[in-house]
Amino acid sequence: MKRMVTKPVLACLAAALLIVVCLALTRTRLEAQPRGKAIYDKHCTECHGASGKGDGPGAFYVAPRPRDFSTGRYKIRSTETGSVPTDDDLIRSVRQGLYGTAMPAWDRILSDTDIQDVVAYVKSMSPQFATPPKLVDPGEGTPSSPDSISRGVQVYEKLQCSKCHGTDGRGTGAVATEFQDDWKQPLPAADLTQPWSFRGGATSRDIYLRFRTGMAGTPMPSFVDAASDKDMWDLANYVVSLARKPVWSMTAQEVTDHFARQDAEAKANPVKRGEYLVNTIGCVLCHSPIDQERRMLPGMRLAGGVLFRIEPYGDFPTGNITSDKETGLGNWTDDEIKRVITKGTLRDGTRLLPFPMDYASFATMKPSDIDAIVAYLRTVPPVSNRVPAPRFRFFPSYMWGKFKLLILGDDPPIAIFPGNAGAVGGQR
Ligand code: HEC
Ligand code: HEC
Ligand code: HEC
Repeated sequence: MKRMVTKPVLACLAAALLIVVCLALTRTRLEAQPRGKAIYDKHCTECHGASGKGDGPGAFYVAPRPRDFSTGRYKIRSTETGSVPTDDDLIRSVRQGLYGTAMPAWDRILSDTDIQDVVAYVKSMSPQFATPPKLVDPGEGTPSSPDSISRGVQVYEKLQCSKCHGTDGRGTGAVATEFQDDWKQPLPAADLTQPWSFRGGATSRDIYLRFRTGMAGTPMPSFVDAASDKDMWDLANYVVSLARKPVWSMTAQEVTDHFARQDAEAKANPVKRGEYLVNTIGCVLCHSPIDQERRMLPGMRLAGGVLFRIEPYGDFPTGNITSDKETGLGNWTDDEIKRVITKGTLRDGTRLLPFPMDYASFATMKPSDIDAIVAYLRTVPPVSNRVPAPRFRFFPSYMWGKFKLLILGDDPPIAIFPGNAGAVGGQR
């Protein structure tokens, strides 16, 4: 009797178990994509954009720009030119980030499964992945030695790496060092003495793969047909040997010399220095209008018109700081521009509040850096956008606002509005 009951029960249990296992298997397969999408939406859209076109809100403020995943073009590959990367290539890029760029390392934030799922989702954004990757076989490689390195010097000359990287790896004597990538964004040739800035890592294998396969989307070509594999390994060893000492292992004197040289370079090229400062200390962020999704309006870089409402003081649309003569800084003198940046006094004598533009801290910059900012602003292409003057509140409404803020605990005092508070073309 007992046995008779146990048998069907066991059979049922086994069947149920089978169903559960099958369900779990199909679910994990089905779920990889939604999981990958969820991770993507949470961590990647800010830069790579909701549809993966590389146009998230953060994209407009970083160089190089985040990858456009719809094209299937990748820099860091262990695969032939024109081929998509392997899963391992992508996983590695996501895990460790792309050095020297805004692309962060995700290994401390995402688990291995998370990274696999998000990579699967990224791949689904480009039809190119339908064709399987064509692997490169890097072989054994050549261990580094003085002999290999001196052979590498000759390969460097033969392949004319110096045309873009200079005879010393840092641009000296190069034909050109400033390029554009396929997305029309500025891209300097790597400084080969600073291996920590190599996107794909700095071992001889990494370096071998970069010029063996090329960096898709950039002017950095593939040299597969120009040299033998052995030559390319010698070259990789030579590039590794070019690394300069990083600052943290320099002696005091070396640090002094290093920064003196950097300083001299900055002074020799103020426009470049100014561009760097304007990009990094927030001028672009505040002086370029944005849309509802916080993406910079096309063609409006530095054209002003971002409305800051500061309670209870009033409305402060940021000025047009392009070189436009009518509506920008084209007709301002150097001193007038410097006076705003360091003292907060506009051309007509209006005194700005010490926020949002923190001119007091800008005033602590070296005079040569302030000159550099002005020199760069002169070169920013003109955009006609007439921005209204700041509007301070009338005294009674200012007092009422102050009362609401301090006594009634009103909303936070600064609001930033999307859209352009100015008038493109100058008419109002
Ligand atoms: C803060 C901005 C930022 C965020 C957030 C970000 N990325 Fe990136 N990512 C970049 C930039 C910038 C590049 C391009 C770097 C370059 O071209 O050298 C890039 C490039 C890549 C590449 C291309 C590597 C190659 O070989 O060309 C992959 C893959 C990638 N990101 C995946 C991701 C994933 C997945 C996430 C989310 C987990 C993510 N990124 C989040 C900025 C970001
Ligand atoms: C036409 C110009 C050009 C030539 C020629 C050229 N490069 Fe480059 N190289 C570039 C550019 C541009 C980059 C920057 C790519 C980037 O940042 O995405 C680069 C980047 C690199 C990097 C950094 C890789 C990384 O992971 O970021 C190395 C290493 C390198 N080049 C080595 C070489 C060697 C060695 C040669 C000669 C065989 C060479 N390059 C020839 C333009 C060039
Ligand atoms: C936190 C936001 C913020 C940052 C960062 C910022 N500004 Fe401003 N800026 C403003 C606001 C707000 C005004 C005042 C509105 C106005 O100009 O009428 C202003 C005004 C100006 C003006 C006067 C323009 C005019 O037409 O009246 C200049 C020039 C200027 N900023 C240059 C700069 C430069 C250069 C930097 C970077 C060094 C910078 N700003 C950084 C918010 C900012």
